[in-house]
Amino acid sequence: MAQSQDLHQRRLAAVAPGVSSIISSYVDHASGGTLSDVDGREWIDFGSGIAVTSVGNAAPRVVQAVQEQVARFTHTCFMVAPYESYVAVCEQLNALTPGEHAKRSALFNSGAEAVENAVKIARHATGRPAIVVFDHAYHGRTNLTMALTAKSMPYKHRFGPFAGEIYRVPMSYPLRDGGLSGQAAAARALDQIEKQVGAANVAALLIEPIQGEGGFVVPAPGFLPALASWCTANGVLFVADEIQTGFCRTGSWFASEHEGVVPDLVTTAKGIAGGLPLAGVTGRAEVMDAIHPGGLGGTYGGNPVACAAALASIATMRELDLAAAARRIESIMVPRLRELEDDHPEIAEVRGRGAMIAMEIVSPGRDGAGGPAPDPDRTKAVAAACHAAGLLVLTCGTYGNVLRFLPPLVMDDATLHKGLDILAAAFA
Ligand SMILES: Cc1ncc(COP(=O)(O)O)c(C=O)c1O
Repeated sequence: MAQSQDLHQRRLAAVAPGVSSIISSYVDHASGGTLSDVDGREWIDFGSGIAVTSVGNAAPRVVQAVQEQVARFTHTCFMVAPYESYVAVCEQLNALTPGEHAKRSALFNSGAEAVENAVKIARHATGRPAIVVFDHAYHGRTNLTMALTAKSMPYKHRFGPFAGEIYRVPMSYPLRDGGLSGQAAAARALDQIEKQVGAANVAALLIEPIQGEGGFVVPAPGFLPALASWCTANGVLFVADEIQTGFCRTGSWFASEHEGVVPDLVTTAKGIAGGLPLAGVTGRAEVMDAIHPGGLGGTYGGNPVACAAALASIATMRELDLAAAARRIESIMVPRLRELEDDHPEIAEVRGRGAMIAMEIVSPGRDGAGGPAPDPDRTKAVAAACHAAGLLVLTCGTYGNVLRFLPPLVMDDATLHKGLDILAAAFA
């Protein structure tokens, strides 16, 4: 720990404490499934830098593409002097996102920036002000996206006032809504929309097909399709925030596909570029074409190095069939987690899809809303025991009581099992 400790002292003096880290070891290098710290300690990576390094860290094809691009040119600003890789990434996004309709894309730097732009586009294209979001949602930390995000601590606490015309309605959360069917949960949400704002004022309904930071909440089957059909019937744009779920993470290119939902707009980031900052908004051509030239953009959006990394990442996903790899990870992980669930009553549920799997941890008794009482302390304790034993896991959830697993999709079975052994020992 010697070098990490020194770095930590420098950090305390130099880095704003508002930016915190899960572990206090400092990374030296990383690969397909492990991180190595500056003191030579190795960690099994069940986090992928929060669902980013799906193709692995320093993935060979990404490294080569980045090195070649960085030697050719590093930046021109696409709004000043365009280049081919930006166009190629948009072509890939248009081809890979759900739906056969004509599409256009625009590129940005971060997930939050993509979400901000999706809201701009939706408001402009529809001429309506309101945006509907859901309980437990997470869409980012900029001012507008804080307003869209549900959880106060740590994301919003004392950072307001927030942007207006945002309306929040109940999510389908089978463990905590008494197991409402997808249709019943959608009817409950739509009733709130009609009451709070009225369909004619709604520009867009924005939803994560599987919620990320909110707790890997998988809505009941039928919930997303019911919302999408209501949107179509009411001239409301259905915006899927696939920033965490996209690019093979859930066992298909995009999580909307599991329920046959075709969004009007899709936001992407994270897994798209193997660790380089890139994000996108992809939408129906007629919606995207509504925006005047110059209405969208930014200095760095679609930077050529990030675009080269994205093209290499997407090629890797195709070549290695990483959607199938995510399903293979699920087929190994879920049975092992269910064994743990059988032995540990504090595990209320194992849920998720592909390589986006979580366990919700509870204590005996009920919370105020009648659901199982969340146990964030035990969740933290299990995560800490994993960290101490060399497994990097993340927590999430509105109540801080969800352990989530997001291994790189290229992780081999032996490493995956080793990580699951550490997790089992941590529970024991
Ligand atoms: C669903 C979702 N939307 C938006 C964001 C924000 O992305 P970024 O952190 O790149 O701004 C995240 C990040 O965790 C996310 O999971």
